[in-house]
Amino acid sequence: MKVLLIGSGGREHAMAWVLSQSPHCDTLYIAPGNPGTQACGVNVALNVLDFEKVLEFIEKKGIRLTVVGPEQPLVAGISDFLQEKGHSVFGPSTIAAQLEGSKQFAKDFMERHNIPTAAYKVFSGDYFTEALEYVDARNEYPVVLKADGLAGGKGVLIPENREELLAGMEQLCKGTLQAAAQTMILEEFMPGEEASVFALCDGEHFEIIGTAQDHKRQLDGDQGPNTGGMGAYSPSPLLQKDMLQMVSEQIIAPTVEGMAAEGNPYKGFLYVGLMITPEGPKVVEFNCRFGDPECQVIIPRLRSDLLTHLVQSTKGALQNEAILFDDQYRTTVVLVSGGYPLSYQTGFPIFGIEKIQQTDAFQIFHAGTKQYQGQLCTSGGRVLNVVGTGKTLYESISMAYKGLESISFENMFYRKDIGAKGLNHVS
Ligand code: AMP
Ligand code: GLY
Repeated sequence: MKVLLIGSGGREHAMAWVLSQSPHCDTLYIAPGNPGTQACGVNVALNVLDFEKVLEFIEKKGIRLTVVGPEQPLVAGISDFLQEKGHSVFGPSTIAAQLEGSKQFAKDFMERHNIPTAAYKVFSGDYFTEALEYVDARNEYPVVLKADGLAGGKGVLIPENREELLAGMEQLCKGTLQAAAQTMILEEFMPGEEASVFALCDGEHFEIIGTAQDHKRQLDGDQGPNTGGMGAYSPSPLLQKDMLQMVSEQIIAPTVEGMAAEGNPYKGFLYVGLMITPEGPKVVEFNCRFGDPECQVIIPRLRSDLLTHLVQSTKGALQNEAILFDDQYRTTVVLVSGGYPLSYQTGFPIFGIEKIQQTDAFQIFHAGTKQYQGQLCTSGGRVLNVVGTGKTLYESISMAYKGLESISFENMFYRKDIGAKGLNHVS
């Protein structure tokens, strides 16, 4: 079958690499893709938010399945649009994607279905004074402040005191996030370590497709501003069999059942961001897509055919699917443009990558790269994902760091402690 994959990040390169190896994949198109995905199929320069153009392409090429990587087209309704025109799409409907698109939608949904999460209160309209009074009355810090809408990872603040709360609310109400923060959520702070579970959902059933831990902060020791993700490893040692069972029963099953019962069946990847608290696992956030860079360490672990799994979930036939994994750990270190996620420069040549022999134990997935006059250059904040594989977490970390030694570009930056927090939990 002909497949169209939408997106252009490291997540999509990893997915393109796996999909292109499927015995059922005839031609893989990636829109818009990146220089890495070009080696897995055919990149197509499409504006993926222009749904009519995407439809025209699908009909012209006879695409049988469209797989949507990032959240923006999903929240904007690409899945509904293409399905209404009779095309098969892997990715949730606009309403189901509200689990990521609106924090209020997600929190209210969890409350209705008794899914464990932080206590919260929603404020909208002219909420500054009211929200301040609410926190003053409780006087419990830190407190968590969240913009309701999509904010590219910048919509969550964790003030430690009243002064920071005031500055944070000011930032949300009056700054560039104003649109996303028309409604704001104040949440109880949950102590614990974060880990994520990824489920493949067909509207009625689900299968866990992997677990991972991300490193969201810019600097070693979890310091500095939040980023899209500076590195990740899989599987998460925090999510062993019993814990995963608890997450499945208390969180994922009621989510899939609750969405179906409310008339919004959830089809696609469900990303469950968890805090493993002393009281058990609680939901930090839902996302309606695979994580980036988590996908880069999970998808290569699959030993069964991803394309078959995606097709079965679009058909609502996941209950017969056996998802198989290898027993290796994977760690990815993200090489970023110095300054990311704040201001940074791009357009620098990338050296050393062509000399690297990629094997099963070591892979590179492109993110912010571009070919310019025959030279591979940087074109974004997150530039390359270097993935190491090993029998142990330690071995996979060493492979990733050894692998990146020969790569260089001006202002290249990466965290030196990816995976270190996981080593505390493995023998
Ligand atoms: P979110 O966009 O909701 O995932 O929040 C971004 C980050 O803020 C999360 O990855 C957590 O590190 C942190 N965070 C969000 N909500 C809470 C909470 N209720 N308690 C503690 N940390 C939180
Ligand atoms: N790595 C975090 C995310 O994909 O949202």
